[in-house]
Amino acid sequence: MLSNPLTAAEIAALQQRATDVAQNSYSPYSGFRVGAAILLHADDHQPGVIVTGTNVENASYRLTSCAEQAAVAAAVSQYGPGVRIRAVAIANLNGAVCMPCGACRQTLVEFAAPDTPVFYPGADGETVSTTLAALLPATFSLPPR
Ligand code: THU
Repeated sequence: MLSNPLTAAEIAALQQRATDVAQNSYSPYSGFRVGAAILLHADDHQPGVIVTGTNVENASYRLTSCAEQAAVAAAVSQYGPGVRIRAVAIANLNGAVCMPCGACRQTLVEFAAPDTPVFYPGADGETVSTTLAALLPATFSLPPR
């Protein structure tokens, strides 16, 4: 449990940002328009801001970037390597259940604690709340150098 959990209004705002950025999706091959919104922890350098990303597909399919990966890249690009993720929301414009794929779970883990909440659309369009640890209980990590 987060020591400072998000309010329902904060969760709704995060989800809305994920939905909004999905409008920019470049997905001519799948037609699946995804958005991700990451709430960063506030620190000495920045307040708790939201950074977003959408999926960007490619004719060479495996070069596609997922929305979550794009959001993480944007967060690091804008706020530096010390960013820490407080919460993640995923949305899509296709009315589908949509959890982060396996690769995106590992990408998020790099910058987030196991109890970081992840919000995604469930089967009936409701918001489902889970945690990164529930989505990826065993993560890859390198031994210390
Ligand atoms: N996609 C994401 O953006 N995030 C995920 O976690 C799963 C899949 C995108 C990639 C591709 O553009 C489309 O959804 C269909 O796989």
